[in-house]
Amino acid sequence: MIPVAFVAVFILMDGVSTKKVCGYHDVLEHLNLTTDNSLFKLTRPVLDHTHPTIVELNVILYAILGVIEKTQTFIPFIWVTLTWNNEHISWDPAEFCGITQISVPLDLLWKPDLFIYEMIQKDESAKTPYMYIFWDGRITSEQVIKAVSTCQMDIHKFPFDIQRCNISIGSAVHCADELQLVPFSNSSRATQFSREVMQTQGDWDFLHLSVSSTNLTFDNKLWEQIIYTFTMKRRPLLHVINFLLPILFFLSLDLASFFISDYRGEKLGFKVTVLLAISVLLLILTEILPSMSNKTPLIATYCIVIFALMLLSVLVTILVMYLMDKDSEKMLKLKDERDNKQEKVQVVNCKAEDKRQSSCSYVCKVSDCEKQHELLPAADEVDDGVQSGESHVLLLILEELKELQKTLNLHLSSRDEGGRLSHWATRINNAFFIFYVATVSLFLCFIFKEWTL
Ligand SMILES: *[C@@H]1O[C@H](CO)[C@@H](O)[C@H](O)[C@H]1NC(C)=O
Ligand SMILES: *[C@@H]1O[C@H](CO)[C@@H](O)[C@H](O)[C@H]1NC(C)=O
Ligand SMILES: *[C@@H]1O[C@H](CO)[C@@H](O)[C@H](O)[C@H]1NC(C)=O
Ligand SMILES: *[C@@H]1O[C@H](CO)[C@@H](O)[C@H](O)[C@H]1NC(C)=O
Repeated sequence: MIPVAFVAVFILMDGVSTKKVCGYHDVLEHLNLTTDNSLFKLTRPVLDHTHPTIVELNVILYAILGVIEKTQTFIPFIWVTLTWNNEHISWDPAEFCGITQISVPLDLLWKPDLFIYEMIQKDESAKTPYMYIFWDGRITSEQVIKAVSTCQMDIHKFPFDIQRCNISIGSAVHCADELQLVPFSNSSRATQFSREVMQTQGDWDFLHLSVSSTNLTFDNKLWEQIIYTFTMKRRPLLHVINFLLPILFFLSLDLASFFISDYRGEKLGFKVTVLLAISVLLLILTEILPSMSNKTPLIATYCIVIFALMLLSVLVTILVMYLMDKDSEKMLKLKDERDNKQEKVQVVNCKAEDKRQSSCSYVCKVSDCEKQHELLPAADEVDDGVQSGESHVLLLILEELKELQKTLNLHLSSRDEGGRLSHWATRINNAFFIFYVATVSLFLCFIFKEWTL
């Protein structure tokens, strides 16, 4: 009985061992796909050379790494999937335990020679080293490419602009009757895919990815090309905070400076400082924007007009100051002449009256002319004590104070009286202020309308 049991066990074990085990290598052996087999590598994998190879292309936007206006460069991370047919490859999955796909190294097989027309820099980022081959001969290869590419940007509305950048993909050598390109997904699906996988967008809001195909003809040959157009909108907040608002602030400071009632140059100094601050901001602008000749960016117009208005206001302030100074000079002369006459008369009177006192002229002048001012109460005391040394010093101080008061009076009076010129100056100042405010508000309305349109 025991041998029978053994036989039964043997039969059982045999049944187990006949269950087939397949490795990927078996498939490769079946295909004779080895690293030194030139059949798969050298030529386009078709059995009949008139068959075109159809390449299905799918591109989705993975990240926007940067958009550099200055050099007109667009740097996206794009995820490219290629699918094509290799007519030398086929196996029956049933023969290989249901294996339907194998991953093989990239350089084992022929690949379509697609390249990006706009790309200006070799992609150094890491590549996926494998691609999949399927039992029916389909091959898919996926790559994430950092496509540093040129993009003609329209910065007219910077920083409220929308940019469209193209990535055109086509074959370098194979023309349309050898290699045909087919986009895998239409625009709406590509956009949706991109939204789903999008990692970073930087300063940009990704809006849309549209797909279209064109044909290039050259020398009676036709090349197919698929153009992916990325549409994105700039997030303007940073530029508004960094640039537009500060200029507005400086402009309002300049407007406010009209209320500084100063006729001695402090107002001018203030205005010039504000103007300098704006010119520093203009330096930042030249760093951001490219020098383009076709259409002036609105932001440049904004800066230049505001700068020009502020410059004009400085010039008007200088004019007003000039007129005022002219006027006060005139007043000073007039006043001086009047005072001199008075003094002469008084001195003569004084000398005639009393020749003993050495400080006569001072005292006389003081007591006669400026008695109404309480600033100078020392006069009587000086008169009493005849200590000539100390009193002389005191009298000198007195004289200085008197001079000071005279100029002060002059300014006050000149402002009150207002000569013909300073009258004009005030009118010019007021008229310019109204012009300034009107121009600034009109201009700001206009430019913001342009910007948001
Ligand atoms: C497989 O390829 C090698 C050379 O790459 C060749 O010598 C060999 O004959 C091929 N075998 C089959 C079965 O095609
Ligand atoms: C991008 O491609 C579209 C066609 O899809 C074309 O109309 C447009 O001019 C291209 N833009 C640039 C900057 O080449
Ligand atoms: C894009 O493709 C999807 C699915 O393939 C389809 O549902 C949709 O209608 C297509 N859209 C357009 C505009 O062709
Ligand atoms: C490009 O050429 C292919 C065939 O050569 C044709 O099927 C396709 O319609 C053409 N596309 C355009 C946009 O002309």
